[in-house]
Amino acid sequence: MELTYRPRRLRRTDALRSMVKEHTINASDFIYPLFVHEGADVEPISAMPGANRWTLNALIGEVIRAWDLGVRCIVLFPKVDDALKTEGGEECFNEKGLIPRAIRLLKKELPEMTIMTDVALDPYSIDGHDGIVSAEGIVLNDETVDHLCRQATVQAEAGADLIGPSDMMDGRVGAIREALDDEGFEDVGIISYTAKYSSAYYGPFREALDSAPKALNSKPIPKDKSTYQMNPANAREAITEAQLDEQEGADILMVKPGLAYLDIIYRLRQESALPIAAYNVSGEYSMIKAAAAKGWIDERAVVLETLLSFKRAGSDLILTYHACDAAQWLKDLVK
Ligand code: PBG
Repeated sequence: MELTYRPRRLRRTDALRSMVKEHTINASDFIYPLFVHEGADVEPISAMPGANRWTLNALIGEVIRAWDLGVRCIVLFPKVDDALKTEGGEECFNEKGLIPRAIRLLKKELPEMTIMTDVALDPYSIDGHDGIVSAEGIVLNDETVDHLCRQATVQAEAGADLIGPSDMMDGRVGAIREALDDEGFEDVGIISYTAKYSSAYYGPFREALDSAPKALNSKPIPKDKSTYQMNPANAREAITEAQLDEQEGADILMVKPGLAYLDIIYRLRQESALPIAAYNVSGEYSMIKAAAAKGWIDERAVVLETLLSFKRAGSDLILTYHACDAAQWLKDLVK
Protein backbone atom coordinates (compact mmCIF):
# COMPACT_ATOMS: atom_id res chain seq x y z
CA MET A 1 0.00 0.00 0.00
CA GLU A 2 1.20 3.50 -0.74
CA LEU A 3 0.17 5.31 2.43
CA THR A 4 1.42 8.79 3.29
CA TYR A 5 0.22 8.60 6.86
CA ARG A 6 0.77 5.52 8.93
CA PRO A 7 -0.43 6.41 12.45
CA ARG A 8 1.17 3.19 13.67
CA ARG A 9 4.63 4.76 13.20
CA LEU A 10 4.23 6.64 16.47
CA ARG A 11 2.90 3.58 18.28
CA ARG A 12 5.90 1.40 17.44
CA THR A 13 7.94 1.61 20.67
CA ASP A 14 7.35 2.42 24.33
CA ALA A 15 9.54 5.51 23.98
CA LEU A 16 7.61 6.85 20.97
CA ARG A 17 4.28 6.15 22.63
CA SER A 18 5.30 8.01 25.76
CA MET A 19 6.57 10.97 23.69
CA VAL A 20 3.22 11.52 21.98
CA LYS A 21 1.09 10.75 25.02
CA GLU A 22 -1.57 13.44 25.40
CA HIS A 23 -2.71 12.89 28.99
CA THR A 24 -1.33 11.58 32.26
CA ILE A 25 -2.72 10.79 35.68
CA ASN A 26 -0.88 11.70 38.86
CA ALA A 27 -1.54 11.07 42.53
CA SER A 28 -1.81 14.85 42.99
CA ASP A 29 -4.90 14.84 40.72
CA PHE A 30 -6.80 12.72 43.21
CA ILE A 31 -9.19 13.68 45.97
CA TYR A 32 -9.67 10.71 48.30
CA PRO A 33 -13.16 10.36 49.88
CA LEU A 34 -13.17 8.93 53.40
CA PHE A 35 -16.05 7.87 55.66
CA VAL A 36 -15.81 8.48 59.38
CA HIS A 37 -17.99 7.34 62.29
CA GLU A 38 -18.14 7.54 66.10
CA GLY A 39 -17.81 3.79 66.62
CA ALA A 40 -14.84 2.16 68.32
CA ASP A 41 -13.94 -0.08 65.37
CA VAL A 42 -13.11 0.38 61.73
CA GLU A 43 -16.10 -1.03 59.84
CA PRO A 44 -15.80 -2.38 56.30
CA ILE A 45 -18.55 -1.13 53.96
CA SER A 46 -20.03 -4.22 52.36
CA ALA A 47 -21.20 -2.53 49.15
CA MET A 48 -17.77 -0.89 48.68
CA PRO A 49 -15.08 -3.56 49.14
CA GLY A 50 -11.85 -1.94 50.33
CA ALA A 51 -13.62 1.14 51.77
CA ASN A 52 -14.29 1.55 55.49
CA ARG A 53 -16.03 3.67 58.06
CA TRP A 54 -12.95 4.93 59.91
CA THR A 55 -12.77 5.81 63.56
CA LEU A 56 -11.24 9.22 64.25
CA ASN A 57 -8.05 7.53 65.39
CA ALA A 58 -7.70 5.18 62.45
CA LEU A 59 -8.55 8.03 60.07
CA ILE A 60 -5.25 9.71 60.89
CA GLY A 61 -3.26 6.66 59.78
CA GLU A 62 -5.21 6.34 56.54
CA VAL A 63 -4.70 10.01 55.70
CA ILE A 64 -0.97 9.77 56.36
CA ARG A 65 -0.83 6.67 54.14
CA ALA A 66 -2.55 8.65 51.35
CA TRP A 67 -0.15 11.56 51.82
CA ASP A 68 2.87 9.26 51.60
CA LEU A 69 1.52 7.92 48.31
CA GLY A 70 1.33 11.45 46.91
CA VAL A 71 -2.39 12.17 47.44
CA ARG A 72 -2.82 15.82 48.42
CA CYS A 73 -6.54 16.19 49.12
CA ILE A 74 -9.17 14.20 51.00
CA VAL A 75 -12.92 14.71 51.44
CA LEU A 76 -14.73 13.63 54.59
CA PHE A 77 -18.21 12.10 54.92
CA PRO A 78 -19.81 11.39 58.31
CA LYS A 79 -21.88 8.36 59.29
CA VAL A 80 -24.01 10.13 61.88
CA ASP A 81 -25.63 8.31 64.81
CA ASP A 82 -29.40 7.97 64.36
CA ALA A 83 -29.96 9.66 67.73
CA LEU A 84 -28.45 12.89 66.33
CA LYS A 85 -30.61 12.99 63.19
CA THR A 86 -33.44 15.53 63.06
CA GLU A 87 -35.89 16.84 60.46
CA GLY A 88 -33.75 19.93 59.91
CA GLY A 89 -30.38 18.16 60.18
CA GLU A 90 -29.15 20.73 62.73
CA GLU A 91 -26.25 18.47 63.74
CA CYS A 92 -24.59 19.61 60.49
CA PHE A 93 -23.61 22.88 62.13
CA ASN A 94 -22.63 21.52 65.53
CA GLU A 95 -19.12 22.87 66.15
CA LYS A 96 -18.33 19.77 68.18
CA GLY A 97 -19.81 17.40 65.58
CA LEU A 98 -17.91 14.54 64.02
CA ILE A 99 -16.67 16.42 60.95
CA PRO A 100 -15.35 19.54 62.73
CA ARG A 101 -13.55 17.25 65.21
CA ALA A 102 -12.08 15.15 62.40
CA ILE A 103 -10.86 18.28 60.58
CA ARG A 104 -9.21 19.70 63.71
CA LEU A 105 -7.49 16.41 64.43
CA LEU A 106 -6.20 16.01 60.88
CA LYS A 107 -5.03 19.60 60.67
CA LYS A 108 -3.03 19.04 63.85
CA GLU A 109 -1.46 15.80 62.61
CA LEU A 110 -0.90 16.69 58.96
CA PRO A 111 -1.51 20.41 58.31
CA GLU A 112 -0.35 20.26 54.67
CA MET A 113 -3.08 17.85 53.58
CA THR A 114 -5.88 19.72 51.79
CA ILE A 115 -9.20 19.00 53.46
CA MET A 116 -12.42 19.21 51.48
CA THR A 117 -15.83 18.86 53.11
CA ASP A 118 -19.28 17.96 51.88
CA VAL A 119 -22.08 20.44 52.48
CA ALA A 120 -25.61 18.95 52.49
CA LEU A 121 -28.08 17.75 55.10
CA ASP A 122 -28.52 14.11 54.06
CA PRO A 123 -26.17 12.45 56.58
CA TYR A 124 -27.87 14.47 59.35
CA SER A 125 -31.58 14.43 58.43
CA ILE A 126 -33.96 11.64 59.49
CA ASP A 127 -35.45 11.49 56.00
CA GLY A 128 -32.12 11.33 54.10
CA HIS A 129 -32.76 14.42 51.94
CA ASP A 130 -30.11 17.03 51.22
CA GLY A 131 -32.52 19.79 52.17
CA ILE A 132 -35.27 20.46 54.71
CA VAL A 133 -38.55 18.74 53.76
CA SER A 134 -41.74 20.75 54.45
CA ALA A 135 -44.91 19.29 55.98
CA GLU A 136 -46.23 18.99 52.41
CA GLY A 137 -43.20 17.00 51.26
CA ILE A 138 -41.41 19.81 49.39
CA VAL A 139 -37.63 20.14 49.71
CA LEU A 140 -37.33 23.79 50.76
CA ASN A 141 -34.63 25.77 48.97
CA ASP A 142 -33.99 29.02 50.81
CA GLU A 143 -34.47 27.64 54.33
CA THR A 144 -32.00 24.88 53.48
CA VAL A 145 -29.41 27.33 52.14
CA ASP A 146 -29.45 29.03 55.53
CA HIS A 147 -28.46 25.74 57.22
CA LEU A 148 -25.82 25.04 54.55
CA CYS A 149 -24.17 28.41 55.18
CA ARG A 150 -23.96 27.63 58.88
CA GLN A 151 -22.55 24.17 58.09
CA ALA A 152 -19.91 25.62 55.73
CA THR A 153 -18.87 28.25 58.25
CA VAL A 154 -18.43 25.65 61.01
CA GLN A 155 -16.30 23.53 58.68
CA ALA A 156 -14.15 26.52 57.69
CA GLU A 157 -13.75 27.47 61.34
CA ALA A 158 -12.46 23.94 62.05
CA GLY A 159 -9.84 24.34 59.32
CA ALA A 160 -11.36 23.04 56.05
CA ASP A 161 -9.58 24.27 52.89
CA LEU A 162 -12.29 23.55 50.33
CA ILE A 163 -16.03 23.56 50.94
CA GLY A 164 -18.01 21.20 48.68
CA PRO A 165 -21.74 21.95 48.47
CA SER A 166 -23.33 18.73 47.15
CA ASP A 167 -26.95 19.63 47.90
CA MET A 168 -27.99 21.21 44.56
CA MET A 169 -30.09 23.96 46.16
CA ASP A 170 -30.32 27.09 43.99
CA GLY A 171 -28.11 30.00 44.99
CA ARG A 172 -26.13 28.10 47.59
CA VAL A 173 -22.69 28.82 46.16
CA GLY A 174 -23.20 32.59 46.33
CA ALA A 175 -24.74 32.41 49.79
CA ILE A 176 -21.93 30.22 51.14
CA ARG A 177 -19.30 32.54 49.57
CA GLU A 178 -20.88 35.50 51.33
CA ALA A 179 -21.20 33.66 54.65
CA LEU A 180 -17.54 32.57 54.51
CA ASP A 181 -16.37 36.08 53.63
CA ASP A 182 -18.47 37.62 56.42
CA GLU A 183 -16.75 35.37 58.94
CA GLY A 184 -13.26 36.16 57.62
CA PHE A 185 -12.75 32.96 55.61
CA GLU A 186 -11.94 34.68 52.30
CA ASP A 187 -9.21 32.13 51.61
CA VAL A 188 -11.41 29.07 51.97
CA GLY A 189 -12.37 27.84 48.51
CA ILE A 190 -15.61 26.40 47.11
CA ILE A 191 -15.54 23.25 45.01
CA SER A 192 -19.11 23.14 43.81
CA TYR A 193 -20.99 20.00 42.84
CA THR A 194 -22.07 21.95 39.77
CA ALA A 195 -23.64 19.26 37.63
CA LYS A 196 -24.81 16.65 40.09
CA TYR A 197 -27.22 14.20 38.55
CA SER A 198 -30.06 12.30 40.21
CA SER A 199 -28.24 9.02 39.80
CA ALA A 200 -28.62 5.40 40.83
CA TYR A 201 -24.81 5.19 40.95
CA TYR A 202 -24.89 6.66 44.49
CA GLY A 203 -26.42 3.46 45.94
CA PRO A 204 -23.32 2.08 47.72
CA PHE A 205 -22.51 5.51 49.22
CA ARG A 206 -26.00 5.73 50.70
CA GLU A 207 -25.44 2.31 52.26
CA ALA A 208 -22.14 3.52 53.68
CA LEU A 209 -23.82 6.45 55.44
CA ASP A 210 -27.27 4.92 55.84
CA SER A 211 -28.52 8.08 54.12
CA ALA A 212 -30.97 6.86 51.47
CA PRO A 213 -34.30 8.79 51.44
CA LYS A 214 -36.66 7.15 53.96
CA ALA A 215 -40.43 7.25 54.40
CA LEU A 216 -41.70 8.87 57.63
CA ASN A 217 -45.11 8.63 59.28
CA SER A 218 -45.21 12.34 60.11
CA LYS A 219 -45.16 13.74 56.54
CA PRO A 220 -44.80 12.75 52.89
CA ILE A 221 -41.14 12.28 51.88
CA PRO A 222 -40.02 12.41 48.21
CA LYS A 223 -38.71 8.95 47.32
CA ASP A 224 -35.77 10.28 45.31
CA LYS A 225 -33.78 13.50 44.81
CA SER A 226 -35.10 14.41 41.37
CA THR A 227 -36.57 17.78 42.40
CA TYR A 228 -33.07 19.11 43.10
CA GLN A 229 -30.45 16.87 41.47
CA MET A 230 -30.25 17.07 37.66
CA ASN A 231 -32.12 14.88 35.21
CA PRO A 232 -29.72 12.40 33.54
CA ALA A 233 -31.41 13.29 30.24
CA ASN A 234 -30.04 16.85 30.32
CA ALA A 235 -26.70 18.18 29.10
CA ARG A 236 -27.33 21.87 28.22
CA GLU A 237 -28.66 22.44 31.70
CA ALA A 238 -25.19 21.61 33.07
CA ILE A 239 -23.89 24.69 31.25
CA THR A 240 -26.49 26.86 32.98
CA GLU A 241 -25.49 25.41 36.35
CA ALA A 242 -21.82 26.07 35.55
CA GLN A 243 -22.49 29.67 34.56
CA LEU A 244 -24.45 30.28 37.76
CA ASP A 245 -21.75 28.69 39.93
CA GLU A 246 -19.07 30.81 38.27
CA GLN A 247 -21.07 33.99 38.77
CA GLU A 248 -21.68 33.03 42.39
CA GLY A 249 -17.97 32.53 43.08
CA ALA A 250 -17.18 28.82 42.77
CA ASP A 251 -13.44 28.09 42.53
CA ILE A 252 -13.73 24.58 41.08
CA LEU A 253 -16.63 22.98 39.18
CA MET A 254 -17.52 19.32 39.64
CA VAL A 255 -19.38 16.80 37.50
CA LYS A 256 -20.96 13.84 39.26
CA PRO A 257 -21.13 10.95 38.53
CA GLY A 258 -18.09 10.94 36.28
CA LEU A 259 -17.98 7.92 34.07
CA ALA A 260 -21.50 7.96 32.66
CA TYR A 261 -21.17 11.75 32.25
CA LEU A 262 -17.86 12.19 30.43
CA ASP A 263 -19.71 14.26 27.82
CA ILE A 264 -20.68 16.73 30.55
CA ILE A 265 -17.06 17.03 31.70
CA TYR A 266 -16.09 17.70 28.08
CA ARG A 267 -18.79 20.35 27.65
CA LEU A 268 -17.90 22.18 30.86
CA ARG A 269 -14.24 22.11 29.82
CA GLN A 270 -15.27 24.02 26.66
CA GLU A 271 -17.41 26.49 28.61
CA SER A 272 -15.25 27.37 31.59
CA ALA A 273 -11.64 28.18 32.37
CA LEU A 274 -12.03 27.05 35.99
CA PRO A 275 -10.53 23.76 37.17
CA ILE A 276 -12.94 20.86 36.70
CA ALA A 277 -13.30 17.86 38.98
CA ALA A 278 -14.92 14.52 38.17
CA TYR A 279 -16.51 12.42 40.92
CA ASN A 280 -15.83 8.75 40.19
CA VAL A 281 -18.75 7.75 42.47
CA SER A 282 -19.40 4.77 44.69
CA GLY A 283 -21.41 2.75 42.15
CA GLU A 284 -18.65 3.12 39.55
CA TYR A 285 -16.13 1.96 42.14
CA SER A 286 -18.20 -1.01 43.29
CA MET A 287 -18.86 -2.23 39.74
CA ILE A 288 -15.13 -2.48 39.10
CA LYS A 289 -14.51 -4.09 42.49
CA ALA A 290 -17.24 -6.68 41.94
CA ALA A 291 -16.09 -7.63 38.44
CA ALA A 292 -12.47 -7.81 39.62
CA ALA A 293 -13.41 -10.04 42.57
CA LYS A 294 -15.04 -12.41 40.08
CA GLY A 295 -11.86 -12.42 38.02
CA TRP A 296 -13.71 -10.92 35.05
CA ILE A 297 -11.54 -7.84 34.60
CA ASP A 298 -8.00 -6.77 35.46
CA GLU A 299 -8.68 -4.30 38.28
CA ARG A 300 -5.47 -2.33 38.01
CA ALA A 301 -5.69 -1.87 34.24
CA VAL A 302 -9.39 -0.97 34.32
CA VAL A 303 -8.98 1.52 37.17
CA LEU A 304 -6.05 3.32 35.53
CA GLU A 305 -7.85 3.42 32.17
CA THR A 306 -11.00 4.78 33.86
CA LEU A 307 -9.08 7.50 35.70
CA LEU A 308 -7.32 8.46 32.48
CA SER A 309 -10.69 8.85 30.75
CA PHE A 310 -11.61 11.63 33.20
CA LYS A 311 -8.42 13.50 32.36
CA ARG A 312 -8.93 13.01 28.62
CA ALA A 313 -12.51 14.29 28.88
CA GLY A 314 -11.14 17.49 30.43
CA SER A 315 -11.11 17.19 34.19
CA ASP A 316 -8.15 18.31 36.25
CA LEU A 317 -9.13 16.58 39.48
CA ILE A 318 -10.70 13.23 40.24
CA LEU A 319 -12.54 12.29 43.41
CA THR A 320 -12.02 8.55 43.63
CA TYR A 321 -12.17 5.75 46.18
CA HIS A 322 -9.38 4.11 44.14
CA ALA A 323 -7.01 7.00 45.04
CA CYS A 324 -4.53 5.07 47.21
CA ASP A 325 -4.51 1.93 45.04
CA ALA A 326 -4.06 3.99 41.90
CA ALA A 327 -1.31 6.11 43.48
CA GLN A 328 0.52 2.91 44.45
CA TRP A 329 0.13 1.46 40.94
CA LEU A 330 1.41 4.67 39.36
CA LYS A 331 4.48 4.46 41.60
CA ASP A 332 5.03 0.84 40.62
CA LEU A 333 4.91 1.79 36.92
CA VAL A 334 7.78 4.26 37.35
CA LYS A 335 10.03 1.67 39.04
C1 PBG B 1 -24.72 13.73 49.55
C2 PBG B 1 -23.74 13.08 48.66
C3 PBG B 1 -23.96 11.93 47.90
C4 PBG B 1 -22.72 11.60 47.34
C5 PBG B 1 -21.80 12.57 47.73
N1 PBG B 1 -22.46 13.50 48.54
C6 PBG B 1 -25.14 11.08 47.74
C7 PBG B 1 -26.42 11.63 47.32
O1 PBG B 1 -26.53 12.72 46.76
O2 PBG B 1 -27.41 10.95 47.57
C8 PBG B 1 -22.48 10.38 46.49
C9 PBG B 1 -21.07 9.92 46.36
C10 PBG B 1 -20.89 8.56 45.81
O3 PBG B 1 -21.84 7.87 45.39
O4 PBG B 1 -19.74 8.13 45.78
N2 PBG B 1 -25.16 14.96 49.31
